Amino acid sequence: VANKPDFRQRYGPWALIAGASEGIGAAFAEQLAQAGLNLVLVARRQELLEGLATSIKQRYPVEIRTLAQDLASPAVAETLEKATSDLEVGLIVYNAAYGPIGSFFDQSEDEHRRLLSVNCLAPVLLAHRFGQRLKARGHGGIILMCSLAGFQGTPLIAHYAASKSYDLVLAEGLSAELKPYGIDVLGCVAGATLTPNYVNSNPKKNAFAPPEQKPEAVAKEALAALGKVPFVITGSQNRLASLFMRRLLPRRMALRIMAKATMEMYGPK
Ligand SMILES: NC(=O)c1ccc[n+]([C@@H]2O[C@H](COP(=O)([O-])OP(=O)(O)OC[C@H]3O[C@@H](n4cnc5c(N)ncnc54)[C@H](OP(=O)(O)O)[C@@H]3O)[C@@H](O)[C@H]2O)c1
Repeated sequence: VANKPDFRQRYGPWALIAGASEGIGAAFAEQLAQAGLNLVLVARRQELLEGLATSIKQRYPVEIRTLAQDLASPAVAETLEKATSDLEVGLIVYNAAYGPIGSFFDQSEDEHRRLLSVNCLAPVLLAHRFGQRLKARGHGGIILMCSLAGFQGTPLIAHYAASKSYDLVLAEGLSAELKPYGIDVLGCVAGATLTPNYVNSNPKKNAFAPPEQKPEAVAKEALAALGKVPFVITGSQNRLASLFMRRLLPRRMALRIMAKATMEMYGPK
C-alpha cells in the first residue's frame, strides 16, 4: 500500500475480510495490518482465523476480531452487522467463493443454491448493508474478488464462472454509482492463484495458461488499484491473455479455447 496514512484514513480504521482464513483473504489481512488497519476476519474455520490473528498481532500493532461464520447463511448480513456495530468499518473485502469443479449434473440443487448464496447473494447483501455505513461516513471501499473465468462461459465450472461474471458486473456498476458518496468499489479479477483451494483442485499443467500468481501478489495489486479503477486484472500475463481472448479473438473462438483448456486441466484423463 503506497501511502499508508492516506490509505488508513480513507479505508480504516477497521477492514472486514469475508473469507479471510487462508489464501488471498489471508494475504489481504496481512497487507491491511501492515497498512495499520484493524481487522475483522470472517471464515468458517475458527482455528485458522485465530492462528492468523495471533501471527499478525505479533508483527503489527493492530486489533483483530475473528468471526466463525458461514457466508452462505441467509442471515449473514445482519449477523456481521451486529458483530461489528461498535466498530468503524471502512473497507469490505469479499473474497470467499464456492466453486465445485465437475459436471453440472453431479452438483446437487443444494450445491447450486450454496454457490449462489456464497458468490452472489452474500456480496450483494454485505455491499448493501456495509455500503450504507460507508455512505453515512462519506468514505470507504469495497473489493469484490472476481475471476478471469467470469469473462466467458466455461465447462466444468459453468455455474462458478457465471457467478464470477455477476460479481464483476456488480462491482463495475457500484463503482460508478457509489463514487459520489466517497465509496471506492473494485472488482479484482484474478487468474490462477496458488491458494490452498486451487492447489487442492489438482489442476493438470496447461502449456498455454498464464503462470499462476501468489496470493500476496493478487492482494497487493488489488489494494494498489482501489480508488483508481473500477476493476483490475492482476498479473501482467493474465492481462495479456485476457486482452487476447476478449479483444482480439471472436467470442466463439475464445469459448472454444477456454473449453479446451479447462477440459485439459480438469476433465477425465
Ligand atoms: N485461487 C484461484 O486460482 C482463483 C482464481 C481466480 C479467482 N479467484 C477468486 O479469489 C477468491 C479466493 O479464492 P480461493 O481459491 O482462496 O477461495 P476459497 O476456497 O473460497 O477460500 C477463500 C477463503 O474463503 C473462506 N470461505 C470459503 N467459503 C466460505 C463460506 N461459505 N463462509 C465463510 N468463509 C468461506 C475460506 O475459509 P473457510 O474454509 O475457513 O471458511 C477461505 O479463507 C475467490 O473469490 C475466487 O473466486 C481465485
